[in-house]
Amino acid sequence: MIERTLIDAETLGARVQELGAEIARDYADRDLVLVCLLKGGIYFTADLSRAIDLPITVEFVRARSYAGTSSSGEVKLSWIDGLDIAGRDVLIVEDIVDTGLTLVEIWQALEARGAASLAICALLYKEKRLAHPFAVRYIGFAIEDVFVVGYGLDYDERFRNLPHIAVFQPDESARSPSRLGRSPLNPP
Ligand code: IMP
Ligand code: MG
Repeated sequence: MIERTLIDAETLGARVQELGAEIARDYADRDLVLVCLLKGGIYFTADLSRAIDLPITVEFVRARSYAGTSSSGEVKLSWIDGLDIAGRDVLIVEDIVDTGLTLVEIWQALEARGAASLAICALLYKEKRLAHPFAVRYIGFAIEDVFVVGYGLDYDERFRNLPHIAVFQPDESARSPSRLGRSPLNPP
């Protein structure tokens, strides 16, 4: 169940604009390609890319590790083979860094494809959970160790389309959508 709003849409939007301006300054005169990690990074990448005033390109890779509210411990990457990143400056765009395992896998895969430089931009960062030490260059918000949904983040594929970030408390007895009760798009 949706418990409470953690970050509202206006705050998200303002922070994304700040990040975009910072990235545009840092990558001026470079050949920047954003690599969006699907599905969670879709809304963040859409907004962030439009906040970067440079002629960048955007690519998409699918990474899967979660089942319900916990990581399966194994990351599956798809669509990495066709990426044109050799000799280019790559910025990986992630919805959330939790244990960091996804980033370890994607970093290695992109490095192997000859990126000139690699950096990470994560909207959310669960500091306490980080098991793999990773330097995340751009962080939207550091958050507490709670399970969140919205703005791309899901619970078993649902709630990605919430315009804000909300804290979610799984209720295993209410898994079927018809029993989720109140519409997540209209929380109390
Ligand atoms: P990591 O590999 O443990 O860092 O997990 C990263 C991935 O797990 C993210 O890209 C999300 O898809 C998912 N994830 C981690 N924490 C949350 C959460 O609080 N809500 C929804 N998805 C999450
Ligand atoms: Mg997910």
